[in-house]
Amino acid sequence: MSEAILVAEKLSRSFGGVNAVKDVSLAVPAGQLRAIIGPNGAGKSTLFNLLTGLVPCNSGRILFKGADVTGHAPHTLCRHGLGRTFQINSIFVSATVLENVQLALLAHHGKTWNMFSAASKLFVREAEALLEMLGLAREAGKTGNALSYGDRRRLEVALALACQPQLLLLDEPTAGMSLGDKPRMVGLIRDIVREKGVTALLIEHDMDVVFSVADCITVMHQGGVVAEGPPKEIQANARVQEIYLGDDRRA
Ligand SMILES: Nc1ncnc2c1ncn2[C@@H]1O[C@H](COP(=O)(O)OP(=O)(O)OP(=O)(O)O)[C@@H](O)[C@H]1O
Ligand SMILES: [Mg+2]
Repeated sequence: MSEAILVAEKLSRSFGGVNAVKDVSLAVPAGQLRAIIGPNGAGKSTLFNLLTGLVPCNSGRILFKGADVTGHAPHTLCRHGLGRTFQINSIFVSATVLENVQLALLAHHGKTWNMFSAASKLFVREAEALLEMLGLAREAGKTGNALSYGDRRRLEVALALACQPQLLLLDEPTAGMSLGDKPRMVGLIRDIVREKGVTALLIEHDMDVVFSVADCITVMHQGGVVAEGPPKEIQANARVQEIYLGDDRRA
C-alpha cells in the first residue's frame, strides 16, 4: 500500500450544539479513489471544509504529504496540490466556459485577469485540453449560465483540475444529474484521476456508482466514521445497512 497522502487525526467541528464532525480519523493512500458516504447531515461536506481549510476545526490535526497543514488557508493548500469542487456550483456564469478554465489556470499560476493585458490569450491550449478531457470542447464559447446542469458539474471538475491537484476532493459531482448521467460522470472522474495519478475523495449518494468505482469507502453517520473498507465489505456491513435502512436505534 502506498504511503498516505492525507491523514486526518481526530478532527472535530461543532456548530452550536451540533457535532457536525466528531473525532474523524482517516488515512488515504496516494492514488486511492476513496468514497465518503453517509445520509444527509452526516458531516461529509463539513469534513471536506475542514480538510480544505475553509472551516477551522475545533480540534484534531491534518497532515498533507506528511506536513501538518492544520489551520492552513484554502488557497495555500490549493497551491500545494489540494483541490476541490463544491456541492453547489461555483463557476463564473457570465464568463465563457473557456474563460472560466483560463481564469482557474491564471489563478493557479499566480496571475490576474487584466483587460489591458493579453491574459485572454494565455493558457488557451491548456484550457482547451481540460475541456476536451471533460467532454466540454463544444461548449467552450458558451457562457456559464447557458450550460446544462450536468455540464456545469463537468466544468467544476475542469476548474479543480486546472490547479493540478495531487489530491482532489469532489463534493457530489453528480448532484442534480440524471440517473443515466451519474455513472458516466463518475466513470470519467475515475479515468481522469487514474490517468493523472491523482488521489481523490468523492462524496456521492448513489450507492451503485460508489460501489462500482471506489477503492475504499468511508461511511459517516452523525459526524463520526462508522465503517471503512473495500466496497464488498461495506456492502455486507450490518451497521451500514441499518443506517441506510433508517434503523439507527444503536446510534
Ligand atoms: N455552517 C454551518 N452552520 C451550522 N450548522 C452547520 C453548518 N454546516 C453544517 N452544519 C450542520 O452540520 C451537520 C452536517 O452537515 P454537512 O453539510 O456536513 O452534512 P452532509 O453529510 O454533507 O449532508 P448532505 O448529504 O445533505 O450534503 C448538519 O446538521 C448541518 O446542519
Ligand atoms: Mg454535503
